[in-house]
Amino acid sequence: MKGNRYGSSPILWGGSWVYPPYSAGPSYNTRLQAGPAADTDTASLIRELAKAINGEYNAIRTYEWLAREAPDEEFRKIISDIKQDEEHHFRLFSSYYSQLTGGRKPEIKAGPLPESFVKGVEESIKDELEDSKSYQRLSEIVPLPLRRGLINASHDEQRHATWFSYIWNRTR
Ligand SMILES: [Fe+2]
Ligand SMILES: [Fe+2]
Repeated sequence: MKGNRYGSSPILWGGSWVYPPYSAGPSYNTRLQAGPAADTDTASLIRELAKAINGEYNAIRTYEWLAREAPDEEFRKIISDIKQDEEHHFRLFSSYYSQLTGGRKPEIKAGPLPESFVKGVEESIKDELEDSKSYQRLSEIVPLPLRRGLINASHDEQRHATWFSYIWNRTR
């Protein structure tokens, strides 16, 4: 199986044959610490993860605020469940970051909270859709042990966007 567009042979992963990421050799996939050839990839992956961790951190703060401000018990419950997913993403991405950096933590910056409940819901729909897309992209370039987590997170964000659209439709 040489000469395919992935430039490497498929490897057995989770019961099926998959291709390692385009830019890295097979050793990149068997451990999280990348070799010298993949240094640039690793540096940009670490930057992307830091961005994602900041996004999750601010989503948790925003949803805490939205849950408090929710005009209705049903909305509060939906938003609290979404917040729990974000806490899971935050922990997961932080552990990836820590493994790739030898135990470091990214710098976290708190962003502004929403002006109002409806505005916050509206912004959340867009943020969720953007995050879903960027995690999907990231899942295609990460070492295999990280891929499943990013794909799952991407699907979670899609579901969150739909829930926020539901709330938005019922709030206006
Ligand atoms: Fe998330
Ligand atoms: Fe989300």
